[in-house]
Amino acid sequence: MATVLAFDVYGTLIDTHGVVAELEQRLAGQDRSELAPEFSRRWRDKQLEYSFRRGLMGAYVDFARCTREALEFTDRALQTRFSETDKEHLMGVYERLPAFPEAAAALDRLVAAGVSCVAFSNGSREAVERLLAQAGIRERFDDVVSVDEIKRFKPDPAVYAHLRYRLESEPGDTWLISSNAFDVIGARHAGLHAAWVRRSPDAPFDPWGIDPDFTVADLDALAERLA
Ligand code: 2OP
Repeated sequence: MATVLAFDVYGTLIDTHGVVAELEQRLAGQDRSELAPEFSRRWRDKQLEYSFRRGLMGAYVDFARCTREALEFTDRALQTRFSETDKEHLMGVYERLPAFPEAAAALDRLVAAGVSCVAFSNGSREAVERLLAQAGIRERFDDVVSVDEIKRFKPDPAVYAHLRYRLESEPGDTWLISSNAFDVIGARHAGLHAAWVRRSPDAPFDPWGIDPDFTVADLDALAERLA
């Protein structure tokens, strides 16, 4: 069986901080537009924390609910007092986040080289289908695999086993491509190969002794290596 690359979505293909410009606009009215990058980072961190905690509690919900509740929490923590309309609007922006600038061309190179690519995400299948379509990159993927199919979140070993089940692939043929270190470690722990997309040059990797097979700066560098 040929190699399959399973791409993490949020943070790897899609830029979660694409919401910063919208936050800046909404915070300008409160003279706090400089808070936008911090708001975006804390929103994303809290979204992931909620998925981890819900995983441990066995209290799965759709990932979009983690996103919505994390937005609510961040609004409270930073006392930004967004209206319900603001929050609905920001959730809408989150559903239309952009792809990273190099994603489409890099995926094209991989597909042209005969590499099979799938999207693999905490997001529901419907949410990921919509997100990739509006970002203009859906057609590069053979399939979308969502953790929602088994109601567990990354990095539960069950989600990586489910990925292999869906792909009908052997661990040695299955690669996770992710900018999220916790996802890379989860995949390696489950016996898959994994490449870490180190989008920030000073991002540290968790010192667990479970390392990626290799690290690249972005998807261009990945295509350079694998296409
Ligand atoms: C994803 O599954 C973890 O946000 C990441 O797309």
